[in-house]
Amino acid sequence: MAIYNPGPCKLQGAVPIAGSKNASLPLLASSLLFNGELKLRNVPDLIDIGVLLNLMRDLGSCVVIEHQQLSLTHQAQGKAPHICPQKASKIRGSVLLLAPLLGRYGEILLPLPGGCHIGKRPIDFHLYALEQLGAQFSLLPQGIYGHLPRGHFTGGHIIFPKPTVTGTENALMAAAVAQGTTCIENHAQDDEVHELITLLQQCGVAIETSEDAIEVQGVGRLLTPPPESFEVCADRMEAGTFLAACGITQGDILLKYRRCPGLETVLEHLDAMGMSLSLNENGLHASVLQPLKARSFTTAPHPGFPTDLQAPFLALNCVSDGKSVVEETIWENRFLHAKEFLKMGAQLEVMPNQTSIQGVRELHGAEIQAHDLRGSAASILLSLRAKGPSLILGAESHFERGYSFFLEKLSRLGAKLEKTTATRLGAILEKQHA
Ligand code: EPU
Repeated sequence: MAIYNPGPCKLQGAVPIAGSKNASLPLLASSLLFNGELKLRNVPDLIDIGVLLNLMRDLGSCVVIEHQQLSLTHQAQGKAPHICPQKASKIRGSVLLLAPLLGRYGEILLPLPGGCHIGKRPIDFHLYALEQLGAQFSLLPQGIYGHLPRGHFTGGHIIFPKPTVTGTENALMAAAVAQGTTCIENHAQDDEVHELITLLQQCGVAIETSEDAIEVQGVGRLLTPPPESFEVCADRMEAGTFLAACGITQGDILLKYRRCPGLETVLEHLDAMGMSLSLNENGLHASVLQPLKARSFTTAPHPGFPTDLQAPFLALNCVSDGKSVVEETIWENRFLHAKEFLKMGAQLEVMPNQTSIQGVRELHGAEIQAHDLRGSAASILLSLRAKGPSLILGAESHFERGYSFFLEKLSRLGAKLEKTTATRLGAILEKQHA
């Protein structure tokens, strides 16, 4: 399946921002640590969430979705259930089952997790963290086998070699049910991690956070869910993607959300580029009143510039005035989209961890290949600025993993995107002229 875009457009109107994918994944996985029903609201409807829910149903979780609320109950005790390797290898989020299943059953066989091909994606930090809390692991042909020789996690001291988002989340979930106190240093400070901390605190786990460390007083048993449902924050990566879309198409957009923490770095960046931004009671209004100035950035752990917005903001620099340099420090293979942008007339020099850009005002449509979740979204956005038709091959299988109703939302803002089975742009154009 490919995405066909007949030509340029200026995005205008209001767009609702869905709940955060990367906050929802650990919250869903954490339900395995509860005795009783965990209720969540604002969980986004997208493929990665569906795959995790599917995996959890296989593990014995009862998942009920009603009136925009998702309820999860896990009754099963006894022997650790089997995790389907085909499903686990589809998403990186499956690594988040590690601590909850170990905490609940005392053992786990985790097939190696998957995800976008943006770098090596090891899980050594996860294993190290849980070893500090008493787990033991061995590598088997079917995956990682882990067990808790004492039958439970025991508080300990974790110092991550570098901040890891899902690693910190696994450490937090293990620490919450451990016997004793855990200190986690050099942890990820992303707002998605804070959503998990807030849920655990609402369940009576005492957690203190500072820039340097997180201290968790483990409760030594399964958790009791909060009586009220927990509302997941809005997705800052989706919000950032639509802000980049606004800049690329020189549009005028209202982003509608109730709570979207963690956007500050991106908003400062766009303000410095010249985008007009104002917060009101309905959300965030963004508009482009004059050509934007390209701005260099380097991705870094939170609160640095988020790697998940590197692709859309690199696309924005391609059509903003002046020279810029984008440096990627988190993932070693996250510039595949930049090479595709060359085909639309963008002026770029792509190096392994850095791309230099000379902004241009005009691009032309082209046939380009999508390679990963964020890159595929960025390619679609850049095509909205290009004169003439574009075909983005393989995009859907990537962007539907992380953006809910992406095409529908862009269409409501004025884009004329279509899904097609065509594999050549030339063939579509020939058919149109026949
Ligand atoms: N790392 C290791 N060993 C580990 C874990 C991480 O060396 O055991 C390294 C990684 O190779 C990387 C760095 O540490 O260089 C940071 O990786 P991190 O563990 O933080 O990434 P993650 O938890 O696997 C989450 C998001 C990603 C996002 C990164 C960085 C989820 C489900 N995924 O991944 O999101 O890019 O943090 O912010 O939360 C996306 O949504 O498109 C996406 C890829």
